[in-house]
Amino acid sequence: MKVLVLNGPNLGRLGLREPEVYGSTTHAQLADRCRVTGVELGLDVEVRQTDHEGEMIGWLHEAADAGHPVVLNGAAWTHYSIAIRDAVAQLTAPLVEVHISNVHKREDFRHHSYISALAAGVIVGLGIDGYFLALRWIADNAIRSA
Ligand code: DQA
Repeated sequence: MKVLVLNGPNLGRLGLREPEVYGSTTHAQLADRCRVTGVELGLDVEVRQTDHEGEMIGWLHEAADAGHPVVLNGAAWTHYSIAIRDAVAQLTAPLVEVHISNVHKREDFRHHSYISALAAGVIVGLGIDGYFLALRWIADNAIRSA
């Protein structure tokens, strides 16, 4: 089963960006580890990152049409993009929302997510392990015979 791991703005700078908040793993390393985890779990994991909202919306439409489960870190869009929320609402397979940092310990504007009410579940604050836990949950719960 194919699973899309979709990362939003500024996550391409993981490893460089505020390492005290987001850790030292780069996006390329995160993508490799997601793919390896996918192989272990029998999933075909594709990891993408964009700083462009329209591109992310296109990927969500693709997932909706193909029935792919999604692991989404919408980054800042999480907190304000109704367009991303409306694209997520069209998904036909489960979505797990992931945030590397514990957004609830941070600024008030990070406490609200437009995505969470549509997600199967939300993993926050466990660093990049959140992605691997999300993939494990999808492998155990979201297998569909397509
Ligand atoms: C983030 C948290 C967001 O508030 C922030 O805008 C990000 C990353 C996280 O993974 O912790 O870019 O989604």
